[in-house]
Amino acid sequence: TVRRLAAPDIAARKGGVPIVCLTAYTAPVAAALDDACDVLLVGDSLGMVVHGLPNTVGVTMEMMILHGQAVMRGSRKAMVVVDMPFGSYEGAPEEAYANAVRIMKETGAQAVKVESGPTVPDTIRYLVDRGVPVMGHVGLRPQAVLVDGGFKAKGRDEEGRQKILAEARATADAGAFAVVIEGVAEALAREITEAIAPPTIGIGASAGCDGQVLVSDDMLGLFDWTPKFVRRYADLKGAIEKAAADYARDVQDRSFPGPAETYYAKKD
Ligand code: KIV
Ligand code: NA
Repeated sequence: TVRRLAAPDIAARKGGVPIVCLTAYTAPVAAALDDACDVLLVGDSLGMVVHGLPNTVGVTMEMMILHGQAVMRGSRKAMVVVDMPFGSYEGAPEEAYANAVRIMKETGAQAVKVESGPTVPDTIRYLVDRGVPVMGHVGLRPQAVLVDGGFKAKGRDEEGRQKILAEARATADAGAFAVVIEGVAEALAREITEAIAPPTIGIGASAGCDGQVLVSDDMLGLFDWTPKFVRRYADLKGAIEKAAADYARDVQDRSFPGPAETYYAKKD
């Protein structure tokens, strides 16, 4: 059997071959991504890209666990990290721990990820001390969208730069094995990557990080938006639209199903 990558393997990649990470939400897509990826992230972005929510605030523990289970079943080799949803970790550390343990026990995933705002590093320390590997997430924090008033790049002025650098340092000092940096200028991404011991994994954060992550639906062309930081590697939406149109034509002109796709009574 194949040994799955785990937190220490990813932590050891600091400054080495860049860490390859994509989001995954379902068993078949996880199976298709598993070979190429070091880390499959069951991101709470699933609220938007799979469930059609306006942001990630409405994502529940149950949604994260169901998708985490699917991704674990579909993959074999990649480390699977499950996002803790909004409201599941920002309160008392004991409550965050109970929710993290539930995610790990019910999915079998190797780690959880939390958006590390100012108060979260204490909770990261609490979880790591009790055996829960934690990935941090600084810069643009999508779960804070209702406070921030939109998805905007972060740390582009001096005050913001200092704040994000301090949050990244606190996240690393608290024991996070890796830190996602989202939506920051290249100079700040490089500064954080040099300043902290765990590897950084960037999204919209330049090539100056120790690895990269994208929302798979974005890079596969399934989700209808193309922010500056996304590169499209496929047009799956176009492929699905064409397949559906071809099918509709074949049904309407009765060329589907044909003889090869039809059962016939056995002759005796
Ligand atoms: O939810 C998500 O997909 C994420 C990544 C974009 C880092 O948190
Ligand atoms: Na997320």
